[in-house]
Formats: sequence, structure tokens, C-alpha cells
Amino acid sequence: MKGIILAGGSGTRLHPLTKVTSKQLLPVYNQPMIYFPLQTLLNAGIRDILIIVAPDHSGDFVNLLGSGKQFGARFSYEVQDKPEGLAQAFLIGSDFIGKDNCAMILGDNIFTHDFTSSIKSFKKGAKVFVKEVPDPERFGVVEFDSSGKVLSIEEKPSRPKSHYAQVGFYIFDNNVVEYVKTLKPSKRGELEIVDLANVYMQKGELSVESLDGEWIDAGTFESLYRASTIVRENDLGMDLEQISGVKIEVKNIKKPLTFDN
Ligand code: DAU
Repeated sequence: MKGIILAGGSGTRLHPLTKVTSKQLLPVYNQPMIYFPLQTLLNAGIRDILIIVAPDHSGDFVNLLGSGKQFGARFSYEVQDKPEGLAQAFLIGSDFIGKDNCAMILGDNIFTHDFTSSIKSFKKGAKVFVKEVPDPERFGVVEFDSSGKVLSIEEKPSRPKSHYAQVGFYIFDNNVVEYVKTLKPSKRGELEIVDLANVYMQKGELSVESLDGEWIDAGTFESLYRASTIVRENDLGMDLEQISGVKIEVKNIKKPLTFDN
């Protein structure tokens, strides 16, 4: 299974914080935001990872993450010239995906859920994950029956059919690259991830799983603040030593920094 972290976009909802850097490089308590989705993929056993970035700050991602060696993984990078939708990731990443299945995680999504068993048991079709939320109209909304069969899936509907938000983690089989080519841009000019999921649904190949634990889409001031609090309270930071077996030296700042007026 290959992995994609989608870390492009313009981050306008977080202006002015994102005027000179990418949203996914902003701090969430003690780590850059992108460490969290990265940690989710690594924890699930995915080691071959494509990071898709916007042109403006692409070099900063490479400076931060490098080849992946430090994380016991292999990283590739692609630039998305314009934010033309989440599903476009599978066109940009088609060479990287090759003949494999692929999991994608959004670069601003933070999970405490462990996806390992879903990745291991995945055979074919597509799998999306949901979390019950009080404000479903902010998200992709999934309606499903008691057997887990998906009945409908809509992006930010004004009248949501359920309280289940589709979170930013998806697993697709290798057909994803062909299916995404059949999509047309939505009214807002994007290749929508819900439209891609709908292709699988119409073929009876879409399943849904419910999440344990916390999920935060850290794309607004409030959720970014909440993310820092949750990370701090639950000590969610990356344990690089454990993941890669490489010892990372942490330097202590001995003297507090002072600033002259
Ligand atoms: O967080 C879960 C939600 O994420 C889902 O429920 C929605 O179905 C899905 O559309 C998405 O909604 P958002 O409004 O949160 O999407 P946003 O535009 O914030 O993009 C999510 C991430 O993907 C963000 O880190 C920026 C990045 N992105 C976005 C677009 C549109 C890209 O890298 N390229 C893009 O073209």
C-alpha cells in the first residue's frame, strides 16, 4: 500500500498565518502540523509516501522532511500547480501509485485512530472513514445503513442527511487512477473527493468505517487551537526514535531567548 499526504491548497481560511508559509507547516503545539498525518501513515505501516505540495513553499517541505530516511521511510514530492481538488492527487500521483493500492490523508487532519487493521484487511474498492460531528455541513457527509452500506455522500450539503462527516483519510484500490479521469470539476472548479467516492458507490464498491478517538481538521483558527490543546494533553507528538530506530538528538535551549526593543 502506497500513501499520499495532500499538503497543498492556499490556506486562505488561516490568513494572515498562511501568507508566508503553508498551513501544514504551522505549529501544532510542539510539531509542524504535517508530522501528525505523517505519523498516522507510518503507524499504519505505510513507508512509501508521496507528499503533494503547493508551489509557493515546496522547498520548505523538503527541508523539513528530507528523503524520509530519518523516519524510516521513503518520501517523494510532487507540486500541485493550483488547488484543483482533493481527487486531483490521484492524477498527480499516478506514476507514484503504479500498480499499488493507495491510502490518502489530508495534511491538516490529525487523528488518534489507528488505521493499521483497515490497511491490512483492505482488498479492493474504496473505504472511507466517518466521525459523528455536531456540524456536518462543514464536511463531506456520508449517509449509510446499519450494515455499513453507503446510501449517499455529499460535499458540504446545506441540509445534511446524517451527522457523519467523511474524515480526511481514504483507501482506494488501483482503479482510482482510471476512475478519477472520469470526473468533471464541480461548480467550485475542483475534482471532488466525494465525486470519486460516488463512482465507487455506484459500482457497489464503497465501504465505510467509523473512527475511534479524536479527529481534528485543523484548517480554522478554532480547530488549530483545539489541535494544539489535544496534542499537548494527550502527548501525541511523534516518537521518532520508536518509529525509525534512529536516535534523534533533542537540543535544549539553556537560556531563555531575549529580545531587545
Ligand atoms: O477534513 C475533512 C474534509 O476535508 C472532508 O470532510 C471533505 O469532504 C473534504 O472536501 C475536505 O474538506 P475541506 O474544506 O477541509 O478541504 P480543504 O479545502 O481544507 O482541503 C483539505 C486539505 O487538502 C488541506 O490541507 C489543503 C489540501 N488541498 C486542498 C485542495 C482543494 C490540496 O492540497 N489541494 C487542493 O486542491
